[in-house]
Amino acid sequence: MSRQMHLMGFSLWSPSAHMVGSWRHPASHGPDMDWSGPEVWQRIAQDCERGRMDGFFFAVGLAPYGVYGDSIAPTLRDGIQFPTPDAMLLLPMMAAVTERLGLVSTLSTTYNHPYAAVRQFSTLDHLTKGRVGWNVVTSFQPREAAAHGMDPVPHAERYRRAEEYMEICHQLWNSWDADAVQNDRERGVWADPDKVRDIDFQGEFYRCQGTAPVSPSPQHHPVIFQAGGSGDGRDFCAKWSDAALSFQMNVVQMKAYVEDMNTRAAAFGRGSDALKKMFGVQPIVGVSEAEAREKQDYLNSLVSPDGSLALLSGHTAFDFSALDLDAPAEEIPDMPGIRGIWGAVTSLADHGLDRLTIREGARAYGQSVLMPQVVGTPQQVADELISMWETSGGDGFLVTCPIRPSGYTEFTDLVIPILQKAKVFREEYTGTTFRDHLNQTSLG
Ligand SMILES: Cc1cc2nc3c(=O)[nH]c(=O)nc-3n(C[C@H](O)[C@H](O)[C@H](O)COP(=O)(O)O)c2cc1C
Repeated sequence: MSRQMHLMGFSLWSPSAHMVGSWRHPASHGPDMDWSGPEVWQRIAQDCERGRMDGFFFAVGLAPYGVYGDSIAPTLRDGIQFPTPDAMLLLPMMAAVTERLGLVSTLSTTYNHPYAAVRQFSTLDHLTKGRVGWNVVTSFQPREAAAHGMDPVPHAERYRRAEEYMEICHQLWNSWDADAVQNDRERGVWADPDKVRDIDFQGEFYRCQGTAPVSPSPQHHPVIFQAGGSGDGRDFCAKWSDAALSFQMNVVQMKAYVEDMNTRAAAFGRGSDALKKMFGVQPIVGVSEAEAREKQDYLNSLVSPDGSLALLSGHTAFDFSALDLDAPAEEIPDMPGIRGIWGAVTSLADHGLDRLTIREGARAYGQSVLMPQVVGTPQQVADELISMWETSGGDGFLVTCPIRPSGYTEFTDLVIPILQKAKVFREEYTGTTFRDHLNQTSLG
């Protein structure tokens, strides 16, 4: 079969996800659904499954953004990726109304012990019959640390801790042989004790003695996603993940990312196919191009300047309120949070936006967190996705729709059939597990 595109729905369990203010759109959630209830997410899961998408993915932060002006007020006022209920607890409700769709939650390696992570993900993998995935993050927000009674963990140390973390998780997942559970009523052997071993891990940051608390699950361990952007983060991702995730503004940058991640994967003895590369995109679909542009303009008009600055300051862990917002957007060295974001914002000037001020740069960030807004008729959106996919050499896209749930319904009913007709996207699932959909074999 020719190369196939991979697609996952993508959002946060909060009033708005990747577009500041999108909750204000009259079609967001609608009168009979609340963003916090299960109905909207169950409908999105069913839409994604009807479109034969690989999965649905929740990003998760653990605290409100509070760096901008040293205040959480703009975050609260605009519901920016906050509140943040526990998406792990929502996944089973989405699993209950679907049969094949992969379901991903984020869990931080900085604020949970690996033993607890193994217990949660193996439980979910049993409950979903092999459909669970884990977005491994190390967490970058000072408020997340403070809420857990900790000082922020320095960047390099976060990834050293995460290395140990993954090592423990895999040792635990391997502490049961695949055939340890015998369930032999006649012989009176539920599990063969010779096939289950204690691990004994003594590291710089973690200790763990014992065996996995849950018997081997259908996928052995969850599909692993990671989105490190720094050198350390990308190496960690290349070593441990099934799929690497990134926000890149255009196809040139996507291609560079794919090449870099393939090189890093090869250094760990992994082929480029073993590490899928996926990019965030924000589709805005209309019956005509004019209607789609009108929809985009209206959505973008809901993006508040303060909310954008709060999100940008939150992600970079740099307080933009200290700057003259009408000054030209120029490089600022040594941002403590996610690196590269502000550089990407300032480079927007190279993309036709002359004399970008800091305020305008922040606004562009608030619209899509620098993911491409793919706007047009279903045919135009599908054509652009195919073009980005072919030219970048990436494997597919994380699809974040600003208007939920209807954006996912439109994407499934209008865009996916065109991708299917072009023979770049599956018409039917061929396997039962999430790993099957991604054509990944277990690293276990
Ligand atoms: C697609 C995508 C999803 C992400 N999801 C989360 C998330 O759910 N929680 C989080 O704390 N960070 C998230 N991040 C941030 C990354 O985990 C990572 O920290 C960031 O890209 C910076 O890379 P670095 O840690 O190597 O500096 C995400 C990033 C991307 C591109």
